[in-house]
Amino acid sequence: MTADTRHIEAAIYERLSRVIDPELGRSVTDLGMIAAINAVPADGGTDAVETSGDGQAKTYDVTIQVELTVPGCPLSETITNQINGAVASYPDARLTPHIEVTSMSHDKLADLVADLKAERKQNPFNKPGIKTRIFAIASGKGGVGKSSVTANLAATFSALGYDTAAIDADIYGFSLPKLFGVHTQPTNLNGMLMPVTAWGVKLISIGMFAGADRAILWRGPRLQRSLEQFLADVWWGEPDVLLLDLAPGTGDMAISVAQALPNAELVVVTTPQPSASDVAVRSGLVALQVPMKVRGVVENMSWYEHKGEQLRIFGEGGGERVSEQLTDALGYDVPLMAQLPLEPELRETGESGRPAVLTPEGALRTDGIGREFRALAERLMR
Ligand SMILES: Nc1ncnc2c1ncn2[C@@H]1O[C@H](COP(=O)(O)OP(=O)(O)O)[C@@H](O)[C@H]1O
Ligand SMILES: [Mg+2]
Repeated sequence: MTADTRHIEAAIYERLSRVIDPELGRSVTDLGMIAAINAVPADGGTDAVETSGDGQAKTYDVTIQVELTVPGCPLSETITNQINGAVASYPDARLTPHIEVTSMSHDKLADLVADLKAERKQNPFNKPGIKTRIFAIASGKGGVGKSSVTANLAATFSALGYDTAAIDADIYGFSLPKLFGVHTQPTNLNGMLMPVTAWGVKLISIGMFAGADRAILWRGPRLQRSLEQFLADVWWGEPDVLLLDLAPGTGDMAISVAQALPNAELVVVTTPQPSASDVAVRSGLVALQVPMKVRGVVENMSWYEHKGEQLRIFGEGGGERVSEQLTDALGYDVPLMAQLPLEPELRETGESGRPAVLTPEGALRTDGIGREFRALAERLMR
């Protein structure tokens, strides 16, 4: 091997470090999927210089051994194409790629998963410079539509092109599997769980686990441990948006969220009537105890459209009151970000397993609540 073939091998390796495994969201070199790169001059001659005497670029055969995480991995073709592209774009010589695909040994895969898990344990969503926006959806009491807002907002973000994840952090009252029509269990890759994707959203919920598996998730003495487990044991990659559907109340979960996810921003959901808005204020005041920002307030079931008229069935002013009181108490602007209509379809479609903002084909509805949720999503990201 000469300096020049080594130079080509290093350059190819460098290029492959930019080929990302679409499922794990990490480069194929990082994941140890490139077992070997071997360049040899195609004409068999020695190669002291990269261009031959006549100024023509020299030709090399480059053999790349790729080890996939699982045999017959459906991503094999995508990865192979990307490697071909990386080799073809090498500027200083003509390279002919030969790609040999095998799969990792059991031990190597176990090591890789252990590495990925160790990394997640150290810094799930709290490493510096993480791009993920995290919104924790809270409410003072149940039944105000917190889960419906979470589900429809998540579906909206995904339909708008954001890589979106959602955690059902309402451990006793989980509802996201039903709202997304999920009936499958997360895939378990040597102890690391892959979230279930539904309507474009990566989801995890205690409700996806049955029997023994659910007991494992609850192995900690405190229920809040399940949040840490959802963060540490689930492979999330680095989504653009992460939503958490919190349990109602001023509970411990909000404090756990603030500790585990210092970037999380609280969004308080209320209905218009005082009985809901008074406790909603208290759920937002958790931000006085822990370093967590309250991003804003969403008023749900604000009005019902009847014969072109907006009827205020549950009264008025709840969202505005929560916004004013939290702004006063916290010393910064906590805006009222949306007033969402009461729409029977939202309940009906939700029960059928599709977030109501989506059409049956999975596109974002351009009318009614589709438009309202889009405006809310855009406002949250600003
Ligand atoms: N804007 C809305 N229009 C019509 N029904 C709604 C609306 N928001 C929520 N619901 C319904 O109200 C009930 C409670 O909503 P849910 O999202 O489960 O509340 P929470 O998570 O706060 O307990 C559900 O049956 C849901 O379908
Ligand atoms: Mg709920």
